[in-house]
Amino acid sequence: MGALKLRSRLMSFVRNSDGAAAVEEQSDGVLVIENGKITAVMDASDFEVKGNALSECEDLRSCIIFPGFIDTHVHMPQLGILASYSDQLLDWLERYAFPAETAFCDPAFAAAQAEHFLHRIIALGTTCAQVFTTVHAHSCESLFSAAETKNMALVAGKVMMDRNAPEQLTQPPVPCARDCEELINRWHGKGRARYALTPRFAITSSDEQLALCGELLQGHTDVLLQTHLSENLQEIAEVGRLFPHARDYLDVYEGHGLNCSDATFAHSIHLSSNERARLLDAGAKIAFCPSSNLFLGSGFLDIQSIPRSHLSIASDVGGGTGLSMLHTCVEAYKVAQAQGQRFHPFEAFYAITAGNASTLGLADEIGQLKSGLSADLVVFDPTKPSQLAGRLGTCVDLTEELFAIMMLSDDRSIRRCYISGELVYEGTNQTWA
Ligand code: GUN
Ligand code: ZN
Repeated sequence: MGALKLRSRLMSFVRNSDGAAAVEEQSDGVLVIENGKITAVMDASDFEVKGNALSECEDLRSCIIFPGFIDTHVHMPQLGILASYSDQLLDWLERYAFPAETAFCDPAFAAAQAEHFLHRIIALGTTCAQVFTTVHAHSCESLFSAAETKNMALVAGKVMMDRNAPEQLTQPPVPCARDCEELINRWHGKGRARYALTPRFAITSSDEQLALCGELLQGHTDVLLQTHLSENLQEIAEVGRLFPHARDYLDVYEGHGLNCSDATFAHSIHLSSNERARLLDAGAKIAFCPSSNLFLGSGFLDIQSIPRSHLSIASDVGGGTGLSMLHTCVEAYKVAQAQGQRFHPFEAFYAITAGNASTLGLADEIGQLKSGLSADLVVFDPTKPSQLAGRLGTCVDLTEELFAIMMLSDDRSIRRCYISGELVYEGTNQTWA
């Protein structure tokens, strides 16, 4: 098959040697894609100098091509409960999340939702995600199958729960571990799929279940771990009651080998300084979920206390209020502001591309516009919506431009998405009569 050549403004995000996030930009660039990979990134003028004709390229100069966005923590079965009015975390789980997940007992429903979920994230520019499915193995199976048809890099796991949840959502530790192992054997490393062991949180797993989870993690190279940690004060008190011998919340996971460099701990808002130090020492990562933390009233993560290499950013839908990673960055900015901190737009774009890729151990595969990486791309149309186009007209530098894009874009701004070099989404032109 011939190469795909796209001419556009190109932007990718890196971390400089001084530790600051920075933009690599070609204002008029060419991206060459072959067999699903990026094979060249260059200025249009260099492309011509090398003897190529620019007429061979598709002209997308009115757009910006970014690396596809990445979400490090999202719940596939919770799309249907976005914006559910309730009290904080534990009440919301009981009233909305658990009933929604119970509906996934039906394999046909689960399969349709898996497909729907991928369509929804892709339409917002997200080309890779680390996903909680439900306790049902078939829900995880369906999501991996749907991602495989799109050649999409997907990290997912079936939820592990053996207590403190409705009966249809719990499973004794041994059969649950057996299901996880079967899913790992079938999917982990198949194409672009990766498995993440997914104990929901300490409240819904016994020590026996967490121990088996630790054994699975030890026994399978490169398998990841995703769970929740220290999100809500009531939750933390309940963990203290359920695990009276643990010295703190992290210790519950640590005791079973789950505090490790393969782990992503969602939230981690209320950690003690000792817990934070142990988490960082182990090389574990935190998924900062600002829209969820605001929506559920969980609290403000002190992002300044966490080295950027340990900090990813995530939607956490349905606790989070939207799947857009740009919208998630807006909420991160507000959480930082509320604490007198800064969240620079270069940091935001770095986080949702290269940063989140390294959290998932995928920096050699995705997250930048770089030769050799998979061609997972967002073609962003800065002329939509009109309030963004208007604001961009007055921006004086890249910081202002990227900040406006982050703050004012919406689903209309996502013109196309490519995954493994294939066009998987083309936004419709929304015009008013
Ligand atoms: N803690 C345990 N389960 C969940 C969940 O589904 N969402 C959030 N935000 N926190 C959790
Ligand atoms: Zn979550």
